[in-house]
Amino acid sequence: MAFQLSSVVPWGRNLAEYREMFLLRDADLQQQIAGFGDGPASFNHQVTMAGGHVTSFDPIYQFSREQLAQRIEEVRAVVMQQMAENAGNYVWDRIPSLEALEAVRMAAMRDFLEDYEQGRAEKRYICHSLPERVPFPDGSFDIGLSSHFLLLYTTLGYDFHIAAITEMLRVCKEVRIFPLCDLDSNASEMIDAVIDRFSQTHSVEIRKTGYEFQKGADRLLRIRQKA
Ligand SMILES: C[S@@+](CC[C@H](N)C(=O)[O-])C[C@H]1O[C@@H](n2cnc3c(N)ncnc32)[C@H](O)[C@@H]1O
Repeated sequence: MAFQLSSVVPWGRNLAEYREMFLLRDADLQQQIAGFGDGPASFNHQVTMAGGHVTSFDPIYQFSREQLAQRIEEVRAVVMQQMAENAGNYVWDRIPSLEALEAVRMAAMRDFLEDYEQGRAEKRYICHSLPERVPFPDGSFDIGLSSHFLLLYTTLGYDFHIAAITEMLRVCKEVRIFPLCDLDSNASEMIDAVIDRFSQTHSVEIRKTGYEFQKGADRLLRIRQKA
């Protein structure tokens, strides 16, 4: 089935948030990084501006800048209304209010939109859906990231997650996934099953991060080839 623009809810985070979610040190940001499901995050642009190398993969990169800009405006009020209704599920410290949240997210998405056409031309934004084959040879990237996509949407199911993470591990020497819970901030049997599966073949580590916006969602999963 074709991926419809009307089903896209663009919502993007920034470099400071990615650094905290993924425990990214300065040295990590010098490496070849792949971001899966980066959507309209400003991570790619901000790292690129600082001299780093990020390739972002997401099915929304089939759309034009104008289409994405329009869709961001269309869903903005709806998403903010949902956030207001569910405000009790979030930790309002570093982002102190709904107004501050909207400002931070819109700033990140504006930054992404500014970079988008150039980034597409430079092949930093690649239209791709996991678990399809990534158009890069084995081991092309040092670190593969998934922020608020894999494991969060447990309805995608066990087989989808195994296939998606397996493909990420083909092109990345290590994979980091944040957060480690479902959309209701609950641990799930599916997440446990995915972790068990990769623990049989890879080095798997769960680490607490300093980032917690969705209550209880403060841990990342790191999967590496066994030494
Ligand atoms: C909640 S957004 C997170 C955006 C960004 N990672 C961030 O944290 O700001 C989830 C993203 O996953 C993307 N996505 C959905 N299905 C995907 C798939 N099969 N493969 C890769 N990305 C996908 C969506 O288009 C969307 O941009």
